[in-house]
Amino acid sequence: MTKYSHLDTPFIDAVKAYVDKNRTAFHMPGHARSRLIPEQIEALLGKNVFRYDLTEVEGVDYLHKAEGVLKVSQELTAAAFGSEQVFYLVNGSTVGVMSMIMSSVKPGEKLIIQRNSHRCAIAGITLGNIIPVWIQPEMIPEYQILAGVLPETLQKTIDENPDAKAVLLTSPNYYGMAQNMMELIRIAHENDIIVLVDEAHGAHFPFHPDLPTSSIDRGADMITQSTHKSLPALTQTALLHVNGNRIDYDRLTAVLSMLQSSSPNYLLMMSIEASRKMMSQYGMDLWTKAMDTASYAREELMKIPEMQLIDESVIGKYGIVEWDSTKLSVLTNSMKYSGFEVEHLLNQQFNIEIELAALNNILCFITGGSTKEDVDHFVKATRWLSENKGKTNLKEFIRIPQIPFQVYTPAEAFSENYDQIPFKNADGQISKRIIAPYPPGIPYVCPGEIITQNAIEMLTQMKMDGAVVQGIDENEMVEVITS
Ligand SMILES: Cc1ncc(COP(=O)(O)O)c(C=O)c1O
Repeated sequence: MTKYSHLDTPFIDAVKAYVDKNRTAFHMPGHARSRLIPEQIEALLGKNVFRYDLTEVEGVDYLHKAEGVLKVSQELTAAAFGSEQVFYLVNGSTVGVMSMIMSSVKPGEKLIIQRNSHRCAIAGITLGNIIPVWIQPEMIPEYQILAGVLPETLQKTIDENPDAKAVLLTSPNYYGMAQNMMELIRIAHENDIIVLVDEAHGAHFPFHPDLPTSSIDRGADMITQSTHKSLPALTQTALLHVNGNRIDYDRLTAVLSMLQSSSPNYLLMMSIEASRKMMSQYGMDLWTKAMDTASYAREELMKIPEMQLIDESVIGKYGIVEWDSTKLSVLTNSMKYSGFEVEHLLNQQFNIEIELAALNNILCFITGGSTKEDVDHFVKATRWLSENKGKTNLKEFIRIPQIPFQVYTPAEAFSENYDQIPFKNADGQISKRIIAPYPPGIPYVCPGEIITQNAIEMLTQMKMDGAVVQGIDENEMVEVITS
């Protein structure tokens, strides 16, 4: 390891050296290393993508038993991010969160889990036959956003469930709000509980002191980050960081091997390594630029009459202690549009694609790749919307989702018989599926839980405003347990 620096890319170098050998290919993938490419895709992507599209060939190591260049590459990444060990992931934070859960909690054991967890956490609980103990984070009423878990809420949940094995916390949330991880981790560890952190939206945190502190540095046991969300790595790439001695490594590697492809895509892993190098080299400058761009955007937006933005004023409230200022979020109430309507209008009339729309807000991600011209275009569009108001009065239907009563665990619900009924008639029925607006994919109803009138009204309104709600089909039907 000592002969390597953060500027080295041993994995990319090894793949390139292999490709340069130009070996006669009698192996997967079927494009025979770029000789058989569908015309249409070659016209779009060129040959090189296929030349480097390798897996499991001699000299370039194997992800599931990394002993050569991939091992070194992962070590360099761990060092750059400040963790003790890193596993490259080729199925996003989805597989990272599932692996964290399934490696630290056994079937029939309890996991304390923040209610606004991503749906992949429910998948992990279902596959692992784990009992969820939900923990409700604070709600920011004026934004209708679930924020942080209060330390006293975690302490109370642990007191009521001293047999819980691990806690899964999500920090930051989609909007860049980071919770009091130092205190939450201290409480969990004092009670001998493993801390798992879904930091999918915080892969950039280690690279600038003005960004929130990564949970890697707060002492969490395992942390998952999506390198494809904020870093310039290809979609599906992510990292699983491990710290300390609370983790069963053998179980973790076994779970990762079960859940990840046996043919991990080398292009994806090359992009992780290249992003790590880029961040080590230029991270500070790039994130300074991103924060400056976001701050310029906020200044310009605030020149629009009645404009309201989500900003650092959330710090110190609702369990939030830090905020990532590269997240640019506009409240849409004053424009008399829902967030979904604004998303649609930005899309159709201004050719702008945002990251996320919710009932009363929209969210844009700013990175080192965002430009002043992008911001000017967005501000111009937002000004137009503000001058051409809609007809939606959001205040009338704002509600706070309650955690519904759980009849079956998600794993039990998965195997129960079910029927389809109209969602509007589902009050009091037990849901077979996750019902979650997407994005962000946070469940309103989990498998095995009672569907309440409150959830029906809220989700129906969201759909009317243009939200995509997974778990409700195009005929407004849902699956409910019959047995
Ligand atoms: C908080 C959170 N966790 C996990 C995921 C899943 O991440 P990925 O898309 O990298 O699989 C997402 C996706 O949006 C997310 O928002």
